[in-house]
Amino acid sequence: MKRHFIWAAALTVAISMGSCGKKGEIYKDPNANIEERVEDLLSRMTLEEKVYQISQQVLGFNDNMNNIESLNPIPLDSKIGSVIYMGTDYKYRNEFQKKAVEETRLGIPVIFGYDVIHGYRSVYPIPLAMGCSWNPGLLQECTKVAAQEARMSGIDWVFSPMIDVARDPRWGRIAEGFGEDPYTASQFAVAAVKGLQGDSLNSTKTVASCLKHFVGYGASEAGRDYVYSEISDQTLWDTYLPPYQAAVKAGAQTLMSAFNDISGTPASANHYTMTTVLRDQWKFDGFVVSDWGAVTQLINQGAAADNAEAAIRALTAGVDMDMTDGVYIRELEKLVNDGKLDIKVIDEAVRRVLRVKFRLGLFENPYTPDSKDEERWLLPASKEIIQKAAEESVVLLKNENELLPLSTDKVKRIALIGPMVQNAQDMLGSWNGHGLASDVTTIYDAMKEEFKDATLTYAQGCEQDGEDRSGFGLAVRTASQADVVILCLGEKNGWSGENASRSTILLPAVQRDLLDAVARTGKPVVLVLNNGRPLELVDMEPQVKAIVELWQPGVTGGKALARILSGAVNPSGKLCVTFPYTSGQIPIYYNRRNPAREATQGFYQDVTVEPLYPFGYGLSYTTFQYGKLKISADKVAAGGKLKAEIAVTNTGTRIGKETVHWFISDPACMITRPMKELKYFEKAELKPGETKVFTWDIDVNRDFSYVDSDGTPFLEPGDIYIQVQDQKVKVTVE
Ligand code: BGC
Repeated sequence: MKRHFIWAAALTVAISMGSCGKKGEIYKDPNANIEERVEDLLSRMTLEEKVYQISQQVLGFNDNMNNIESLNPIPLDSKIGSVIYMGTDYKYRNEFQKKAVEETRLGIPVIFGYDVIHGYRSVYPIPLAMGCSWNPGLLQECTKVAAQEARMSGIDWVFSPMIDVARDPRWGRIAEGFGEDPYTASQFAVAAVKGLQGDSLNSTKTVASCLKHFVGYGASEAGRDYVYSEISDQTLWDTYLPPYQAAVKAGAQTLMSAFNDISGTPASANHYTMTTVLRDQWKFDGFVVSDWGAVTQLINQGAAADNAEAAIRALTAGVDMDMTDGVYIRELEKLVNDGKLDIKVIDEAVRRVLRVKFRLGLFENPYTPDSKDEERWLLPASKEIIQKAAEESVVLLKNENELLPLSTDKVKRIALIGPMVQNAQDMLGSWNGHGLASDVTTIYDAMKEEFKDATLTYAQGCEQDGEDRSGFGLAVRTASQADVVILCLGEKNGWSGENASRSTILLPAVQRDLLDAVARTGKPVVLVLNNGRPLELVDMEPQVKAIVELWQPGVTGGKALARILSGAVNPSGKLCVTFPYTSGQIPIYYNRRNPAREATQGFYQDVTVEPLYPFGYGLSYTTFQYGKLKISADKVAAGGKLKAEIAVTNTGTRIGKETVHWFISDPACMITRPMKELKYFEKAELKPGETKVFTWDIDVNRDFSYVDSDGTPFLEPGDIYIQVQDQKVKVTVE
């Protein structure tokens, strides 16, 4: 039971009076330099206090179904450095904090963390959808909302953004990241860090971010979860590290070590990635928390014989804080006392944790200030931002004969069919924070509101899975009497996210059969998809006139869809991840390296080698015509600058947003390069008839250099092609 206490102004006064501390207690002096405060506090701590400081436990009801078995193996103690706070009541959190601040010897505040992946209460589209918006600025706004809601609810630190590049849609966690491309993931990672952390961490509306999962988790073999990943050093540097590097540079305060084994060294015992790269090369001065139970799991992975060895491996590799398995608390003191672990290693971890706590202002303001629910959550301005995000992340995949937007002159009777029409819960997606189904405007309600003059009918047809086809008859009758069918199919939110791998990316047979039955009526079908991963659509695509990829769009997604179907909003999303033609093509991604034989050999004998929908694909209700791609010079020296330009005209009749993707390719390099790689993108709105010149300011060293397998950048003289759509121009680096 939660016991609330009234923490009054008196408490704040007491804290602030005590904040200067006794003479010489530098760590209590808010005016002292943070590094001095850290060292002073560290010098006062006992070994036991240090070990607790770098440990994390759980407070409240655990809502992560994958982690139930290992909840708090040791009793929760207020000396603990951090808790994952599962509740939404900041008063309960303050009550725990009070024990840490007032009842422990040194009064070190606890840092409260939680998984806020795409919203705390105002749930916005899953990150994979946000990647399709090509609007990192919008993600920054959404994460700012999430930070404000979280911090005002007692959360100082969110386990987000998840920036694992993922190329296997069978892996459920592909939903949590920004797709298959390292540059795209980097841009969104930086935006998320800026939105979450703001200009200052010492605020009631910002939180510390946590980049996860460091590193290479997205390479999990065959899309299974928690498994081995085979990653060469070159691929680590080319593909998996760049988003982390960019986000560390942007000031991210923490990282989470991943579950996967990287070619024989688990990520949570990986000295190279966490110390050589992160601390030594990138000069990261925040802390690394393990993933849930990742320290003790080193035993399962075959990297440690027992918890003592697991603790040594993780800590010495750079895992500063142990998430929930209690291994540091149980093992570290003895290891130091037995002379098996140097106390300096623990000191460094403690130093890093304290530094972030000081930066968050927790010593001066350990308590979450009072506020009412309606002052924190689902504010009208926040809902506006997340609705825009839902609108911009929708991808129009097919629109035969411009069926969409629905013309209300011709379309009077609309049939809404499918298991997603009245489904609120699955619109939230996985990792939906404290989002509630009751906050969601369903597709049904939003369509009724948007199409007031039309007759709307509804039949569910079937569940998302199972064998029950008894609703097909009504669905077919409903479709037969309509001018157009909006068929809403998709995945449950638990089908993606953690521990949610699938062997195929087909929708279950019952949903595909519903589509067959409805399509046989001959009525035009608009297929709307709610899903957390790319799907195999090859057999469904020919049966429908239009396809709208709505993803798992959050609480305002129903409205976003309705406004897109009516034409109030022109879709502008483009895929940040490839949609394979069949599951058998996986992994398939745009920036693969060139094969040895060209054109006619090496392909599948039974299916095309092309995906169904490539990276960057997405339609609009208007048309954009691209002019000639130009560059300011065709030769350039190292250190030089170039300008590339392309004029784009809106040749249709509707206002619309277009994203220009700038790629490069390098036909001959000491280390082979991908067929093409994204280096820059820009999204802009164009009125009908308007022309905009999109420009890429190229910095040769930044944009044409690659890294070798040690991460050392090199610039190789020779030809490079700049590419926009199917136009290419050559530039020679001299
Ligand atoms: C997940 C992390 C998450 C953590 C805490 C783990 O199982 O892999 O992404 O942050 O639990 O909930």
